[in-house]
Amino acid sequence: MRRPLIIANWKMHKRLDDALHDAVAIKNQVSAVSKCDVAIAPVNVHLKSVADRLEGSGLLVAGQNCAVTNSDGAHTGEVSAEMLRNVGCRLVIVGHSERRTLYGDSDTSINQRVKAAVAAGLAAILCVGESIEERSAGHHLDVVDRQLLIGLNGLTLADAARIIIAYEPVWAIGTGVTATPEQAQEMHGHIRGKLAEMFGNGAAEQIRLIYGGSVKPENISELMSKSDIDGALVGGASLDPSSFASIVNF
Ligand code: PGA
Repeated sequence: MRRPLIIANWKMHKRLDDALHDAVAIKNQVSAVSKCDVAIAPVNVHLKSVADRLEGSGLLVAGQNCAVTNSDGAHTGEVSAEMLRNVGCRLVIVGHSERRTLYGDSDTSINQRVKAAVAAGLAAILCVGESIEERSAGHHLDVVDRQLLIGLNGLTLADAARIIIAYEPVWAIGTGVTATPEQAQEMHGHIRGKLAEMFGNGAAEQIRLIYGGSVKPENISELMSKSDIDGALVGGASLDPSSFASIVNF
């Protein structure tokens, strides 16, 4: 049985006081819930403070990106997965579409980041998803296949235990347009099939596939009712603690 995972992706939002206040508010509203894993991904500079504030609560802290290497060195502006782990992170988001489109993260560099995360002992949340043009042209399955094949290239069966896939259709991120539960399930089922080809059925059945793209309190239950949807990566609706808590308490 896969344990659901719901993550608040705060992106580049919140000053330190707000981040701490909202993390505690989330903790207070969801701590009684044991039916899913819950994580918060604040900006890097707030990770340690948020992790300290959540210590002992069962809530997890996630990074939003990591460097391609864990070796300390001349990488101005980068933060390694080991450093994230060192300040209390348990997971890291890799290959978010905003990283791919705004900051040039390629499938190859995303693969390096996934490997660095796994090597550091983090769970790597690999984001995949097609643009509206790719879906309209009927290429969405091929695009996601490519992102999976390159993004997970070279990972072992043991590594697969540290992988989470987030399907985030680009056209649904921050737009208010959610993929229908049927569209999301179709892709999640496809992704699980691809993972079975790569790692075998047993591993594919264990890997959590979470959905992201305009998840809200109003649509979480229907999404979660689908057999291959194991959780959610929530952007806009996670910024308000009560809204995020009602998603977690779906
Ligand atoms: P959204 O963002 O919930 O605001 O659509 C999701 C994400 O980008 O992870």
